[in-house]
Amino acid sequence: MSHNVAIDGPAGAGKSTIAKQIARRLGYIYVDTGAMYRAMAYYLIQNQVDAADQEAIAAACQHADISICYQDGEQVVLLNGENVNAYLRTEAVGNMASVSSVVPEVRKKLVELQQKLARETDVVMDGRDIGTVVLPDADVKVYLTASVETRAKRRFLELQEKGEPADLAKIAADIEDRDYRDMHRDISPLRQAEDATLVDSSDMTIDQVVERILELCR
Ligand code: CDP
Ligand code: CDP
Repeated sequence: MSHNVAIDGPAGAGKSTIAKQIARRLGYIYVDTGAMYRAMAYYLIQNQVDAADQEAIAAACQHADISICYQDGEQVVLLNGENVNAYLRTEAVGNMASVSSVVPEVRKKLVELQQKLARETDVVMDGRDIGTVVLPDADVKVYLTASVETRAKRRFLELQEKGEPADLAKIAADIEDRDYRDMHRDISPLRQAEDATLVDSSDMTIDQVVERILELCR
């Protein structure tokens, strides 16, 4: 039986940063499910599918074959065989991912892929519904969060470091919108699983969060 660690939480809570380090420390594979929803969103944008048209999204998603592989320890998302990692981290793709991920056909397809990966290998998987829907029997479940202000500031610093223009108030507003959509959708809303441990990283360093979660894994 494979071992699974599930990390859920809102945008910018630190899930991917933390999950990557936990995976390395445990010798597990890190699975970024957000990147899969982003790859689907990228496909929809490329094919000019209307974000408001759920039927069109449901039909279009059937033509997007998404899989992952690893290069130098990094997860690579393949969309119809092509590495699309470089296109996934934009706000436009993030917003489309948040809108298209409410479509049941999109979720069904990606959840099946995630469950297959977790059956085959020891994984640290992060997302929104990992502890609640994808891996309800995960060995360790964490709900990682932080205040909107903290998360917006982290994103702001990331953009500044990359030399990209950033508007703190706009980032915070986008985060609030995304939180609302992720928490209030009918299908697989973001919520803490009953058996998940809450970790609020607002006043914690990355190392402190990693150590806290490793304690839970021991
Ligand atoms: O990095 P960030 O937290 O901003 O977002 P992400 O994890 O890359 O996910 C992008 C979007 O995909 C989220 O806003 C969610 O709506 C959706 N998503 C989801 O519905 N379920 C997951 N397991 C992961 C992501
Ligand atoms: O995956 P998610 O959207 O939850 O967040 P992330 O992309 O891993 O983290 C967002 C930013 O917050 C990154 O720049 C991290 O380095 C930073 N971070 C932090 O400053 N302190 C923490 N305790 C966790 C993350």
